[in-house]
Amino acid sequence: MAFLMHGTNTFAPCVNGTRIPAAAPVARRCPVAARAAAAAPGTVNEESLGFKTMRRGIKEAASESILTPRFYTTNFEAMEDMFSLERNPDLPMEEFDAMLSEFKTDYNQTHFVRNNTFKKAAENIQGPNRKIFIEFLERSCTAEFSGFLLYKELGRRLKKTNPVVAEIFTMMSRDEARHAGFLNKAMSDFGLALDLGFLTKNRKYTFFEPKFIFYATYLSEKIGYWRYISIYRHLQRNPDNQLYPLFEYFENWCQDENRHGDFFTALLKSQPQFLDDWKAKLWSRFFCLSVYVTMYLNDHQRSSFYESLGLDTTQFNRHVIIETNKTTARIFPQVPDCEAPIFWERMENLINCNKKLAAIGASEAPAWLKNLQRLPVFERFAKNLLLVFLGPQLDIGSVDFVPEGDAALAF
Ligand SMILES: [Fe+2]
Ligand SMILES: [Fe+2]
Repeated sequence: MAFLMHGTNTFAPCVNGTRIPAAAPVARRCPVAARAAAAAPGTVNEESLGFKTMRRGIKEAASESILTPRFYTTNFEAMEDMFSLERNPDLPMEEFDAMLSEFKTDYNQTHFVRNNTFKKAAENIQGPNRKIFIEFLERSCTAEFSGFLLYKELGRRLKKTNPVVAEIFTMMSRDEARHAGFLNKAMSDFGLALDLGFLTKNRKYTFFEPKFIFYATYLSEKIGYWRYISIYRHLQRNPDNQLYPLFEYFENWCQDENRHGDFFTALLKSQPQFLDDWKAKLWSRFFCLSVYVTMYLNDHQRSSFYESLGLDTTQFNRHVIIETNKTTARIFPQVPDCEAPIFWERMENLINCNKKLAAIGASEAPAWLKNLQRLPVFERFAKNLLLVFLGPQLDIGSVDFVPEGDAALAF
């Protein structure tokens, strides 16, 4: 998952940050965390890159901000009710059964096997690129691990009321554990890994109502798919930019994310109340924009990473957002019109405000002056954010799943 996972996150202001100490039950058996603890220190002095370490070879997690990937928790009782077979005899169990058998096939069972090119490639990435690579791997790993935690818990909690849906969640947590573990192993190639067991117990968990989990998670899976496949295709066309073998795994990897997203499509379809009224339209659009704006700001703050792969950050982002939006329009009742020029104009204004805020933060001015300088920029940022939200929109989704060809006609 993603979202939020897969390198993106939502910055929904309605969140309720809660610290869950040892309560996260998934911490009991965490294969990814176990692998992380065994990470070997690298040959490069990681502290020279400006990272703090918890102990040798183990990186302190980047401090949380509005744009960093989060861990999620939800109202599990409400989820249990929603998928209880006793209370909801009309649930599309045939569709869920078919999906479960597909997940059991486990297409990527043998895909995530490393080869001996990883370490050498990591050693060859030096200078500023090394730092941005580690940051990319950390964000991706945290996002994947976030999916692992949420799906694992959903699998556990729904076991009694709906064993099929529960098992699908467990299978998806298997996939996310693989993804997170693979990324954490990649981090250890760079001499730094995350202690995911520690993170499980100590990171803040953001509470989302089930319907918000559905919107946000669907989007994070689909945007994750489009990010991975777009990077993969670009590097296939430009093999000289293939700096690190991780990206060669993205083709099959992104199919996991696509399947996860399709499962959320089925879940949303089974709960038409999340798709068929004005509130559903409002929230759908809100979550789309939260995910798109967060990714756009995040990636533009780190454009040197995408440039190191030979990508144009703006073009890459626009492609991913437009494609994700087209996919999302097949199920969400309303999406923003991401192909309207005014949409990108306003997104650019947000980037400019963000750049100004970063410049103010980095200046030598006294704190009181910085705060004063920030005020008009915040105001412009808020105004543009509101304009993005109120901007052109498309009412095209349907409670019925629209096949790809038909959805394309809507644009
Ligand atoms: Fe996923
Ligand atoms: Fe994943």
